[in-house]
Amino acid sequence: MSPVIRCKAAVAWEPNKPLVMEEIEVAPPQAHEVRIKIVATALCQTDLQHLLGNMGKDCFPVVLGHEAAGVVESVGHAVTDLQPGDKVIPLFISQCRECRFCKSPKTNQCEKAWYGVDPLSVPESRFTCKGKKVLQFTGTSTFSEYTVMNQMAVAKIDPAAPLDKVCLLGCGICTGYGAAVNTAKVEPGSTCAVFGLGAVGLAAVMGCKAAGAKRIIAVDVNPEKFAKAEVFGATDFVNPKDHSGPISQVLSEMTDGGVDFSLECVGNVGVMRSALESCIQGWGVSVMVGWTNTEDFSARPVQLIGGRTWKGSAFGGFKGRDAVPQMVKAYLDKKIKVDEFITHNLTLDQVNDAIELMKRGKCIRTVMTVSPQ
Ligand SMILES: NC(=O)c1ccc[n+]([C@@H]2O[C@H](COP(=O)([O-])OP(=O)(O)OC[C@H]3O[C@@H](n4cnc5c(N)ncnc54)[C@H](O)[C@@H]3O)[C@@H](O)[C@H]2O)c1
Ligand SMILES: [Zn+2]
Ligand SMILES: [Zn+2]
Repeated sequence: MSPVIRCKAAVAWEPNKPLVMEEIEVAPPQAHEVRIKIVATALCQTDLQHLLGNMGKDCFPVVLGHEAAGVVESVGHAVTDLQPGDKVIPLFISQCRECRFCKSPKTNQCEKAWYGVDPLSVPESRFTCKGKKVLQFTGTSTFSEYTVMNQMAVAKIDPAAPLDKVCLLGCGICTGYGAAVNTAKVEPGSTCAVFGLGAVGLAAVMGCKAAGAKRIIAVDVNPEKFAKAEVFGATDFVNPKDHSGPISQVLSEMTDGGVDFSLECVGNVGVMRSALESCIQGWGVSVMVGWTNTEDFSARPVQLIGGRTWKGSAFGGFKGRDAVPQMVKAYLDKKIKVDEFITHNLTLDQVNDAIELMKRGKCIRTVMTVSPQ
């Protein structure tokens, strides 16, 4: 069996505190598991929500990070599809290929996914630091030079893929793009609105465009995001702060009654309601993509009775082991954009700077180098 590895990781010891670079021990992979050398990882808003979002002491210490790419270092017993040297992307939603959800084409919600078991817990961690167990966030934990994951949550990708770019396909890009294409099922010639123009929202804009939308209205309270949104195909730009009335009324006036599709990519229940109310009655579809699990959402029933549909989307509805390699190929074939999402490049020891950039709305994605490729 491969020995324990001692390596560097950014440990979140407590909520709301800076991460600390520590030496951790990473256990060897057990049956069905692989140990991955992480080459590059990015920071996603969901990592920040765990750190800053009233998660409670039980959820710490933890190694955050779930948007990454790396190379298999060693494999445990009964690993069939992967071998040392394979380039991989860790998945925060597993695809076991055996459960009733994996067997259904209707969903990507694998029964073995970390949150299927218990929303607060994660699979048994393979990390220790200073004699303490350290949790693995979403079963991934990519703010570490090495991590251990079950093979059912690992996508094997094209060896030609540059890991410092395709790491973004581990969360944000697939999430937004798939929310438009798979969940909303945006139609050619339609009018869409995307609320929130971080990586998830910009990828949703890209998905709307790929699906043939004729008009894509980009909505954000930070006008610095509009230039990027245009790169991905947005045609109109709305800052809610420029209007005194509800944003749904503004969009309704712009579109003769509302948009065909709206996507909420902020993680705010008020914005979720606005996104629904911005849809046209009769057939409008609104998709919640932004992540929050601390508040209830609300709307008037007549919104749905009047023919609107309200849906949610995790990881863009993609079954990761099948879809992520295809998205990597789409990038290599220049059919989707990835490089354009990267605004900053840092190293893992600068992770607190990456956190500050995201908190202040100054980045789309910061890619951090973890180990040499
Ligand atoms: N469903 C999933 O599977 C999934 C996966 C990844 C991320 N997420 C969630 O998606 C959301 C976006 O993630 P991100 O990494 O792109 O975040 P981000 O912080 O980079 O982007 C959020 C954007 O929303 C804008 N915004 C804030 N308040 C707004 C408002 N009232 N109206 C309009 N825009 C507003 C911000 O200015 C920012 O540009 C987060 O909630 C994240 O947790 C969900
Ligand atoms: Zn499954
Ligand atoms: Zn994410």
